[in-house]
Amino acid sequence: MTQTAMALSTDAKTQIAEALNQSVAETAVTTMLAQNFHWNVKGMAFAPLHELFQQIYEDHFVAQDDLAERIRAIDAHAEGMLAGMLKRSKVDEHDGHASDKDMIKMMLDAQETLAATLAGCGALAAEHGDTLTEDLCIARGQTHEKFAWFLRSHLR
Ligand SMILES: [Fe+2]
Repeated sequence: MTQTAMALSTDAKTQIAEALNQSVAETAVTTMLAQNFHWNVKGMAFAPLHELFQQIYEDHFVAQDDLAERIRAIDAHAEGMLAGMLKRSKVDEHDGHASDKDMIKMMLDAQETLAATLAGCGALAAEHGDTLTEDLCIARGQTHEKFAWFLRSHLR
């Protein structure tokens, strides 16, 4: 049965918030990774890659806010500490010393990880009838798969 935020059980809210916090953490770590690569990328494809990494971090910066605000809308706590996010995230930081091709590969991995995390978060929300969280997660998962396609297309 479809539930609105306030009709969700405490257990459902806790589980959904945990999955959303995972999504926020990975989105935030990937935001910084994309800005890092935007700054440090080198090579003949500098201009389009500098631009693509900017497109990614601008998208992700807005998305992390949308996801965190959905956590608050279901009346749970949004993790706001970088240390906590790094601990949760399956996407790792990087020092930014890498070739353009390795940056593309790392960002592709990050986008695929995020797509999987968001798909899982959407499925969990659906299990609890939380259609509105499910919808947000589906939209975010689709965006990560679009960026994954953009990045993968550079490697073929
Ligand atoms: Fe810039």
